[in-house]
Formats: sequence, structure tokens, C-alpha cells
Amino acid sequence: MERTLPAPSNRHRHLLGIEGLSPEEIGEILDLAEGYVALNRQAEKKRALLRGRTIINCFFENSTRTRTSFELAGKRLGADVINMAVAASSMRKGETLIDTAMTLNAMHPDVLVVRHPESGAVQLLSEKVDCSVVNAGDGSHEHPTQALLDALTIRRRKGRLGGLVVAICGDILHSRVARSNIALLNAMGARVRLVAPLTLLPAAIERLGVEVFHDMEKGLAGVDIVMMLRLQSERMHGSFVPSSREYFHFFGLDYDKMRAAKADAFIMHPGPMNRGVEIGSEIADDIVKSLIREQVEMGVAVRMACLEILNRDPANRQAQ
Ligand code: NCD
Repeated sequence: MERTLPAPSNRHRHLLGIEGLSPEEIGEILDLAEGYVALNRQAEKKRALLRGRTIINCFFENSTRTRTSFELAGKRLGADVINMAVAASSMRKGETLIDTAMTLNAMHPDVLVVRHPESGAVQLLSEKVDCSVVNAGDGSHEHPTQALLDALTIRRRKGRLGGLVVAICGDILHSRVARSNIALLNAMGARVRLVAPLTLLPAAIERLGVEVFHDMEKGLAGVDIVMMLRLQSERMHGSFVPSSREYFHFFGLDYDKMRAAKADAFIMHPGPMNRGVEIGSEIADDIVKSLIREQVEMGVAVRMACLEILNRDPANRQAQ
């Protein structure tokens, strides 16, 4: 999409959330990512687009797939990628988030990819540095690249996003994945349902333009996509569910509950999965219905697209 921004424009120097992106901007990222899916399936995967650029992965919270896929994405585009294990570094010695940001900034990176346990921390950091910042998940707020990779996965399988009915099920309360997906799916004209026990839903969530259900059978009736979420015990202080076994009985996905969905409905999960808690092992591995492994593949392509757009010369930066 060709679009020039009014100069001087700093619009979307960062990718902090889906909130604020237009459907055209989302579409541009997905279209660009399609090309990278093809590239990633070739033996020779390397491009020189970001040669000379430096990307620092700065994860204040554990991550396997997100960190690895940002690293691969950067390397496949020719950038130098450094991984900072922040938990083991100066933060332990009492350095503040902003001090860490200023230290990294002094090394002239081009992109900081940041994950942090506090909602809003990544935005705060982005205000203190000169480079682009990508939010790789902040508390229970946003995880934009996850929503983008989910959208790419759905669009490739269903041919569109508009008009689809997507059920997001489980621990909505603690989920940045849910928030980013609600924003993206609504922007693209899909209908979003949330299925969860009352204790795992934020107050007044209906205001985000979703339908709320407390029963899997009703919530999954006729849906195109069933997106399961991990029960995020590490963010729970106190008891939100009676027991994992009871949780699985009422809210865990198995073939029986899946019968309510459309016959050609797909299953998704951002990972890591708690098998036997929010999802049955067998259905998670179903080679026809489950897109969980495909989501991981799409993650690399989407992150390459985002890194490409953020590294465009500001004068040529379009639709970001
Ligand atoms: C998610 C996250 O960290 O927000 N995982 C991921 O990025 N693949 C979801 C989760 O941790 O449950």
C-alpha cells in the first residue's frame, strides 16, 4: 500500500500495540509477512535488508518462542541480534528499567525488542530511547506480534478475517494475547466471543466489543476459530479456579466440547500449553484441526515483516 505520511512524522516508530493500527496497516504487515513465509520455507533464508543494523532482545520475563523467533527474524534479515538475559543482569543489582534502557540506548541499537511483566513498562521505555521499540508482551496489556501471527495463520487457512467468528477461551484476565487479538480481530471485521469463568474475566470487558459466555458449549456454537489461552498461574495471587481437574472439566478443550464449533473450525493456542488443563493433549496434536505449530511458523514471518517496516527510512516509512 502506497501512502505518504505528513512530514515530519514519527508515527509508528515503535510497535507497542495493536491499538492504534488501522486495518490497512495491519493488512500491510500481513501481506509483507506472506512473502517471508515463502522465504522461510526455502533452504537459503538469508536477506541483506537489515545488514549493519543491531537488534537487542531485552526480555525481563521468560520466553522461548517469542524470543527465539525475534532472533531468527532479525538474523534472516541480516541484522546483528543480541539477547540480553535481563533477569540475570543488572536488574538483579537494583538498576531501574530506565537505567537499563539508557545503557542500551548508549550502544546505538536500531531496535529494542522488549518483554516486561508490568503493563505499560514497554511504552515507558520507548519514550526514553532513540531507537524503535517492539513490545514483545507487557504484563496483561498487549502482545501485538502474537495477534499479528494469529491473524496471518487464520487468514491463510480461512482466506479472510472479516465475518469470521472467533472464540477466545480461558484466562482472559491475565492475557495480553487476548487483548491484542480482540483489538486486531475487531479492527478487521471478525466477531469475537470470550468464553471464561467469571473469575478469569476483567470487569466490563463487554466494552471492548465482544460477546461474553461462561459456558463452552454455548460459546463455541458455530464458531470458525477456537483460540485457547494458558492458565497463567504465575500472575495469580490467590485462587482463581478450584482445581486444574475441575477447570479442564468445564473449560478445557476436548473433542466433546469442540463438537459445538463449525465442522471446519480450527484450534489455536499461543503456547506454552498446559496439556490437560486448558487443552486436551490429543486435540492439541490433531493434525487437521490444530494450527498450533503453524502459529509458531507464522511468528517468524510476521516478526520479519515488522522489523522490515520499523527499519525503513523514516522518509519512506509507510503505513506504520
Ligand atoms: C504468551 C505470552 O507470553 O504472552 N506466549 C507467547 O508469547 N507465545 C502467552 C502465555 O504466556 O500464555
